[in-house]
Formats: sequence, C-alpha cells, structure tokens
Amino acid sequence: MACSFSVEDLAIIDLLHSLAPQVRVFAIDTGRLYEETYEVAEALLQKYQLQIDWYLPQTEALQKLEREKGLFSFRESLDNRHECCRIRKVEPLSRALKGHSGWITGQRRSQSTTRSALAGIEIDASHNNMVKINPLIDWSNEEVWEYATTHRLPVNRLHSQGYPSIGCAPCTRAIKPGEDVRAGRWWWENPEHKECGLHRP
Ligand code: ADX
Ligand code: SF4
Repeated sequence: MACSFSVEDLAIIDLLHSLAPQVRVFAIDTGRLYEETYEVAEALLQKYQLQIDWYLPQTEALQKLEREKGLFSFRESLDNRHECCRIRKVEPLSRALKGHSGWITGQRRSQSTTRSALAGIEIDASHNNMVKINPLIDWSNEEVWEYATTHRLPVNRLHSQGYPSIGCAPCTRAIKPGEDVRAGRWWWENPEHKECGLHRP
C-alpha cells in the first residue's frame, strides 16, 4: 500500500487494518513534504501500531540535481519538474515495489482529468506488469470524507486550511472556493500535466 497520508490513503489503511493487516505500508519521503504530513504519519503509528517503510531519494542523484540546478528547478520547466519527481518519487517507488507482485493506491477517477479512465485493477506496465489496485476508484470526494469522519481518521490539518490534495510543499498551494480539488497541485502547469510519474497512464 503506497501511502501519501491523503484522506483516501487513511481510509484504505483503516480498511486494511481490519481486513488484511498483513499488507505492507510504505511511504516516499521526497524531502519536501509538509510538517503536517509527518504528523499524520505519527498519528497512524499511534492509532494502529502500524509499521511504515519509508523510502528516500538516492543521495548522489539529489546532490547532483541540487548542485547543478538549485532547490527550485521544478518551477523553471516541465522537464525540470519531471526530473525532480523522477529523483524524489519515481526512483524510490521502484525500489519500494521491488520483489512485490502488486501494489495498492488511493487514486480516484473523479480526482482529475488524468484519472478519469482509470480501472480499479490495472496491469502496471511501468512496474514489471505488476497488479495495481485502486480500491477507491469510484468513491466520490464526499464518500471519502464521510468515511474519514465516521471512523475518526487522523486527517491532515492542512485539509481544513484549503488544501484538499497535498503533495510536496513547494508544489502544493491552497485552493480558492470553486476551484478543482487538484488545482493547488503544480498550479503553474496545465491540468493534463499534473502527474508526477508515480502513476503513468
Ligand atoms: S500524485 O501523483 O499527484 O503525487 P496523489 O497525491 O494524487 O499522487 O496520490 C495518489 C496516490 O499515489 C496516493 O493515494 C498514494 O497511493 C500514492 N502516493 C502519492 N504520493 C506518495 C508518496 N509520497 N508515498 C507513497 N505513495 C504515494
Ligand atoms: Fe520535486 Fe515538486 Fe515533484 Fe516533489 S512534487 S518531487 S518537489 S517537483
């Protein structure tokens, strides 16, 4: 189970806790996450005595990127943004998935145009054709929040400050009323580009 500590991921972890507690949970620490996100991770440890396997970017690749392009290269071009996501997220993901036959994510169809055609169970061509399961594929935003409230899940406190979707801090902003839930992710890019490479169609 790939956990970014989103409200969707918390709902899945709550379900796994009773249905399949043996499922391994991992998280990718990009080095640029919000402090509030680590607080959610800590709350999960307390609530479920959960073990989370953290994966970090490779030191050498990160040192090279920051030495050559600085700490905010992702704002300069789409290529630079993909490069940063590749080093901080995609490569650690491939290490996390190594040796496994499937993975679970919290993606939903209604989250964005890039996800509208997703299937609940996919064959992940980017990762050795392993099985990829998106159990909340058809859940609406309201259904996820109803589950979180009913089950008193330790949701990220940034959600109540206008952040419905939370990723790395420098690439996430609060949204304005009426804006799309992912409008605050990579807000300077067009909607069709708003994927980091963890989930290639
Ligand atoms: S992203 O591609 O735009 O960053 P998003 O934040 O919507 O993805 O999360 C979708 C799903 O991808 C999450 O429910 C989770 O399963 C997985 N995911 C995203 N970021 C991480 C992360 N840092 N660590 C582990 N899994 C992640
Ligand atoms: Fe880098 Fe932003 Fe991608 Fe995080 S979301 S890995 S900071 S480009």
